[in-house]
Amino acid sequence: MPDLSHPTAPRIIAIANQKGGVGKTTTTINLGAALADLGSRVLIVDLDPQGNASTGLGIEAEARSATTYDFLLDEIALRDVVQATAHDRLTIIPATVDLSSADIELYSNEKRSFLLRDALRQADMSDLSLDYILIDCPPSLNLLTVNAMVAANSVLIPLQGEFFALEGLSQLMLTIREVRQSANSSLRIEGVLMTMVDSRNNLSAQVEADARENLGDLVFQTRIPRNVRVSEAPSYALPVLTYDTASKGAQAYRALAQEVTAKHARVAA
Ligand SMILES: Nc1ncnc2c1ncn2[C@@H]1O[C@H](COP(=O)(O)OP(=O)(O)OP(=O)(O)O)[C@@H](O)[C@H]1O
Ligand SMILES: [Mg+2]
Repeated sequence: MPDLSHPTAPRIIAIANQKGGVGKTTTTINLGAALADLGSRVLIVDLDPQGNASTGLGIEAEARSATTYDFLLDEIALRDVVQATAHDRLTIIPATVDLSSADIELYSNEKRSFLLRDALRQADMSDLSLDYILIDCPPSLNLLTVNAMVAANSVLIPLQGEFFALEGLSQLMLTIREVRQSANSSLRIEGVLMTMVDSRNNLSAQVEADARENLGDLVFQTRIPRNVRVSEAPSYALPVLTYDTASKGAQAYRALAQEVTAKHARVAA
């Protein structure tokens, strides 16, 4: 039965890749900011005990008294865990290192894969009127990442053009297939995003060519270039879109947001 209290349910996108340092958090923050700039209301769920999305958006450690852990395991209400950021229309549920124990505690919980889905379903989102929820996953295919995939409509996969990138991708696709079979049959792949692209690097170009050959339209047209402004922005607690709005990185994330919204407009039509 449709839920009439949410006239249009937010689109939930898990940003996942078990490989570390491929641009998951950077993509979560900057796609979130770019979607917000287009007028959408966006909530980021920091699902990584490293808490990098929280830090990158300026939520100091002392200000993280209510976190994703509380939302998942202590049934704390959404309005009590959500925080504003300096960016209009962009909010976040922050994380701390406590979340690493959640991964272990979840194993003894019979609803272990469904906690995030149920917490979001039960949450009163009416004041937030969200259009998108972006979930920043940890670099692992652990229960936290599975929770994200069970809760999500789709998975966005940042891929860095490095030697083992495609092997890692097959393992990730296998997990997505398992989640579809066991818990979330409508889970889709939002797209594979080439990140930190360096056009002078032959290996990076080869990985991208292989990804496009094997995955076709699943690979976003937009590619994110390696850009020093992107890596500097988090230390100023800002998305690159506000830190240096004209930079190549900001332009690329704006193009990605356009591509994501255009895709959803097509799906909705
Ligand atoms: N387009 C880019 N240009 C330059 N540096 C980038 C770019 N994207 C990400 N980085 C830098 O690369 C590093 C890893 O990025 P990020 O933290 O987003 O990856 P991650 O996949 O979230 O990592 P983890 O797996 O640890 O969560 C960071 O220092 C980030 O600033
Ligand atoms: Mg990260």
